[in-house]
Amino acid sequence: MVWIGSVLLSALVMLVTYLAPAAEIAVTSDSPPGFLLLWTRYSAHLAFVFLLLAFSASTLKAFANSAQTRGWVKYRRQLGLGFATAHTFHLVALILFLSNLEGYSVDTSVAVAGFGYVVTALLSVTSNDYSINRLGPAKWKQLHSVGISILMLYFFVAFSGRLLTDFAPIYAVYVALIATAVVAKLKVKRRIMTAATD
Ligand code: HEM
Repeated sequence: MVWIGSVLLSALVMLVTYLAPAAEIAVTSDSPPGFLLLWTRYSAHLAFVFLLLAFSASTLKAFANSAQTRGWVKYRRQLGLGFATAHTFHLVALILFLSNLEGYSVDTSVAVAGFGYVVTALLSVTSNDYSINRLGPAKWKQLHSVGISILMLYFFVAFSGRLLTDFAPIYAVYVALIATAVVAKLKVKRRIMTAATD
């Protein structure tokens, strides 16, 4: 269900970014932004929302244990797959955008950004009961918490970079959300460790 939501929202982002630019702006234009650049940009924003929800589920349950937060945790794996789906749309959009960009050549930054997709793929193929049994719950948990943290770091770098160059309020909101989610998760971890040593 969550996964289908991710496909539908990704299609909606594609439609809106297709319709948003003025008719005279070419779909491949980077300045002013045409369809492919806007699609690349906002498909990443949607992917971020799914990632943030997956990352924050257990923290929210630790702060407020309710039917809603328990449900959120229950669907955490699906939220992660929703992220992978939305982020695949980002991949398709950026390939189309960059392959139509005049003078674009692949450099080392692509390898760094591309590593994020290796992490995404690794988390996606191991998001099932078979992998939990195969790796063992502790190792599986470690893999997924390291992987999801790396991806949060990618978004933090992307959004804070844009905040520093554009000063658009939306980037400040995203950066604040990431910082809050990370600090809250660390607090919960510390609380659990203190309780274990008491
Ligand atoms: C895990 C990997 C990745 C993450 C987390 C990520 C994240 C993001 C985010 C958050 C944005 C939106 C930034 C904004 O609003 O301006 C974005 C845009 C973009 N990304 Fe990615 N990305 C990833 C991989 C890649 C790769 C491999 C490429 C290929 C070089 C790429 C190319 C782009 C481009 C061209 C844009 C549009 C930049 C603009 O708006 O001017 N991304 N990405």
